[in-house]
Amino acid sequence: MTQKLAVVTGAARGIGLATTKLFLRDGWTVAMVDRDAPELEDVAKDLDGVKAFACDVSQPEAVEQLFADVQKAFGRIDALVNNAGVADFGPIEETTFARWRTVMSTNLDGVFLMSQAAIPALKESRGAIVNIASISGLRASTLRVAYGTSKAAVMHMTKQQAAELGEYGIRANCVCPGPVRTKLAMAVHSPEIIAAYHDAIPLNRYGSEDEIGEVIVFLCSDKASFVTGQIVASDGGFESTGIGLPALRS
Ligand SMILES: NC(=O)c1ccc[n+]([C@@H]2O[C@H](COP(=O)([O-])OP(=O)(O)OC[C@H]3O[C@@H](n4cnc5c(N)ncnc54)[C@H](O)[C@@H]3O)[C@@H](O)[C@H]2O)c1
Repeated sequence: MTQKLAVVTGAARGIGLATTKLFLRDGWTVAMVDRDAPELEDVAKDLDGVKAFACDVSQPEAVEQLFADVQKAFGRIDALVNNAGVADFGPIEETTFARWRTVMSTNLDGVFLMSQAAIPALKESRGAIVNIASISGLRASTLRVAYGTSKAAVMHMTKQQAAELGEYGIRANCVCPGPVRTKLAMAVHSPEIIAAYHDAIPLNRYGSEDEIGEVIVFLCSDKASFVTGQIVASDGGFESTGIGLPALRS
């Protein structure tokens, strides 16, 4: 059987690295993409079945070159996981256009550019796109006008992709992680935010990278062959709940 190839962005650490390892476990090969070239090289050298590609997904020319390089190396793409993301938490009044653009360029432009470039190969493989949004895109909160808005847009882009690419057999789904203790989250989660998340999550804890990655790999697999256009939260129940959780806990 021909080995399937997944392109995973933001693969040098965190959720992207965990997802890469889960793909390998399931017999896929992986094109690991990240703009942090040294960290990417460092983790990729210990993994069998991967190739590292240094690329900033917010740069159109770099993305074009990336897809030429991936095609040359593997000759196929069966899944694209748009996971690379940046977080910037700050009061709305202090969110300058520069900060807004920094978030949008990776979290939104990056998903668009990577997906557009992947379409020809995904048409051939009747492959899948999984975009990583966030619970911050499902429910508004303080300090994240740029981050939350970028993630809400990613959810809608996923539905657009499902609507238009379904006729080619391409599926597009979106995973919304709840809080996971990665470098990204720890840079913006203060002790108060960590406590608030615990209070607001029925499972009463942060998730792990693997708990997000398992959902991503499932959605890319043939097991999800009739699933497209879906927004799936892997969030310990955060999205489903309203007020009262801490008061009702025994
Ligand atoms: N950790 C959480 O709590 C959490 C919650 C909800 C959503 N998410 C989302 O999950 C995804 C992964 O986050 P993580 O927590 O693993 O973060 P992380 O910071 O640990 O890893 C992100 C990786 O993306 C890379 N990256 C960032 N911008 C890039 C760009 N323009 N081009 C190429 N690579 C780039 C970074 O170098 C890094 O290796 C992000 O989209 C994030 O918004 C995370």
